[in-house]
Amino acid sequence: MNNHPNALVVGNSDGIGLGLTYRLLGLGWHVHGISRSTSPVSHECYTHTVTDVLAADFTPALTRVCATAPDLCVYCVGIGEQFDTGNMSQETHIMQVNLMAAMAVLEVVVPAMVDRRRGHIIVLTSIADDLISAEAPSYSASKAGLTSYTEGLALALRPRGVAVTNLRFGFVDTKMAKGDRKPFMMTVDRAVEHLLTCIEKRPIRFTRPRVMGCIVAAVRCLTRIRMRFMRG
Ligand SMILES: NC(=O)c1ccc[n+]([C@@H]2O[C@H](COP(=O)([O-])OP(=O)(O)OC[C@H]3O[C@@H](n4cnc5c(N)ncnc54)[C@H](OP(=O)(O)O)[C@@H]3O)[C@@H](O)[C@H]2O)c1
Repeated sequence: MNNHPNALVVGNSDGIGLGLTYRLLGLGWHVHGISRSTSPVSHECYTHTVTDVLAADFTPALTRVCATAPDLCVYCVGIGEQFDTGNMSQETHIMQVNLMAAMAVLEVVVPAMVDRRRGHIIVLTSIADDLISAEAPSYSASKAGLTSYTEGLALALRPRGVAVTNLRFGFVDTKMAKGDRKPFMMTVDRAVEHLLTCIEKRPIRFTRPRVMGCIVAAVRCLTRIRMRFMRG
């Protein structure tokens, strides 16, 4: 009988997922990671699957990993690029990776957790889910869709014993945080602290930094007002 809790971290060769993996291992968790690159993690309680969340064999591979349902599943995969009319396929790709691949993970993980009537799913969306963005519309839209789905799922699964958390960060200091201005940027360590709070308290929605969430919500209102006076 193995008493160590086990976590599945999807998207953990780098950034927030990697920071979380190291921390969970330090706390005695068993962790399985998934990413396209091999993992820098070397630990007796760590295993890794190298695959793309969009690969044809991703669902069978994940199903094998989830033969033992994880106690915790964290979806950290996310990509974003500046909008480019010359590269519209990039927009589709971002929606597929950020939104549809998360759904593919949930398709496997939710029934496994519901069968046991326990488990916790954390989905990393973004404060950008509240933006109407001309610069990166696919990133904002993918996160808005994922936020809406995750929070609906949280309400649906609560009576079945499974917790779901929508974790909305502002800027975190990883390769993903591009651009010249990154207000209120937090370190990966700080982001991991927030993740541990989510693991302990299991909120449905968790936004950090809160002030950034308020600013982005205000920007969204202003954009909506501006759009009322725009034509064409
Ligand atoms: N950093 C920020 O400022 C920020 C702010 C708000 C929200 N977030 C969200 O937080 C999450 C983690 O972001 P991060 O900053 O840690 O990003 P990151 O440093 O770029 O790490 C992303 C991870 O996802 C993996 N990944 C990417 N595409 C994949 C694919 N197709 N298949 C499998 N794995 C894939 C990457 O590994 P491989 O490349 O090896 O596959 C990497 O391990 C994302 O959802 C992001 O949108 C980040």
